[in-house]
Amino acid sequence: MLKMYAKASTISEATQSKSETVSVKGWIYRKRSSGGKIFAIVHDHTGTLQCIIDKSSISAKEWEGIDKAYLESSIIVKGTLKKDERAPGGVEMQVRELEVLHSGEQFPITEYQSPELLLDVRHLWLRSQRMRMIMKARSHVFKYLREFLDKNKFYEITPPILTASAGETGSNLFKVEYFDNEVYLTESSQLYAEAMVYALGKVYTLAPAYRAEKSRTIKHLAEFWMLEPEMAYFNNKMNMNFQAKLVSHVTSRLLKNDMDVLKSLGVDSESLRKIRPPFKTMTYEKAVEKLQQLGSEKKWGDDFGVEDEKLLTMEEEKPIFVANWPKEIKAFYMPVNRDGETVACADMLAPRGHGEIVGGSERIWKEEELVSRMKELNFNLDNYKWYIDLRKYGSVPHAGFGLGVERLIKWVLNLDHIRDAIPFPRMINRITP
Ligand code: 4AD
Ligand code: MG
Repeated sequence: MLKMYAKASTISEATQSKSETVSVKGWIYRKRSSGGKIFAIVHDHTGTLQCIIDKSSISAKEWEGIDKAYLESSIIVKGTLKKDERAPGGVEMQVRELEVLHSGEQFPITEYQSPELLLDVRHLWLRSQRMRMIMKARSHVFKYLREFLDKNKFYEITPPILTASAGETGSNLFKVEYFDNEVYLTESSQLYAEAMVYALGKVYTLAPAYRAEKSRTIKHLAEFWMLEPEMAYFNNKMNMNFQAKLVSHVTSRLLKNDMDVLKSLGVDSESLRKIRPPFKTMTYEKAVEKLQQLGSEKKWGDDFGVEDEKLLTMEEEKPIFVANWPKEIKAFYMPVNRDGETVACADMLAPRGHGEIVGGSERIWKEEELVSRMKELNFNLDNYKWYIDLRKYGSVPHAGFGLGVERLIKWVLNLDHIRDAIPFPRMINRITP
């Protein structure tokens, strides 16, 4: 029939084109019929187009096709456009030819459905307006992160996903059979990024990270994407300044280029406009004092939970840094400060209770210091031979951080749950689809 694939365009291309007759390829979003006419709204990733199909102006076969089609059936329509204030997008099409490419079956998602069911049919739910918009924003967030790092002369490097040793928590590793051995899915690419700063100066990885955390929270995924920049000759302060600029770059680019997406998701763009460097920094010690003033029972040495992060940031308009945490609750590679108790690190907490989005620190760059810290923590040094080796040959001070991309998206788009920031979430109770 119609061999229109090649010529058919997206809805936005069609509605902006100068020619009167256009063809559009899309999916049926809504359909109703009345008195020999079918009114169909066709949609694609660029918009929606109201189409009027007159039984008398198409063939019987075409009519049968559209009459039987379901919501989400794929379709190509060809016709003339005319302005109509009432139509979504301001124009409507009088259809002259059409082809239902695939009628398929009745779409299983109706208007009111439980979040669990929507997760079961995630592969289809991704076509919803809301998920489509979030996925557009996600794609752009990846682009803006890379754009900023590229502008700052970083090299993107690709880390291994299978690793023989723990890179961060050590206790939340997924085990994988690797020939005759057991290895792990990476929980952080940092150690590999560190190896590469000696070769390339400023590098980053943008890769999946895996955490077998048993926590069922609105901010934990078992598989998430982490951006991990690592910079030679950076200290903790430079590290924080850079993070503030990076995060502000992402929000300002979204505001500049993606207002349609932000609007459609109901994002408060005025509050995003306030995200500009510098971000406030408070020491861990001050943060504990503040928590106590706000009625929390947290004491020095405790890690913070969701509620504490909320208390600390409820009044904040911008993210804040909490710096210099007790060494007992941070990773082995962070250098101990002169006080002997805290380490040179900082976490960035998003405003209004969205929680930690970045964890970063200086790295121990001297061999003796690293080895003695690892021994203190009862590490098996054999597993970290290569990492220690980096400190034997021309070692330099360096620092870096890990930004949880889904955490960033959750905060910026003000999502209720982190699972919606990734197309196919992996959580303790979900691995399909
Ligand atoms: O604070 P984390 O554990 O730090 C690291 O892994 C360092 N090695 C990073 C580095 O310095 N290169 O994780 C970094 C960030 C967190 O701030 C959070 O945003 C995100 O990764 N994150 C998670 N996101 C979703 N689900 C989880 N289970 C996450 N765990 C950490
Ligand atoms: Mg952390």
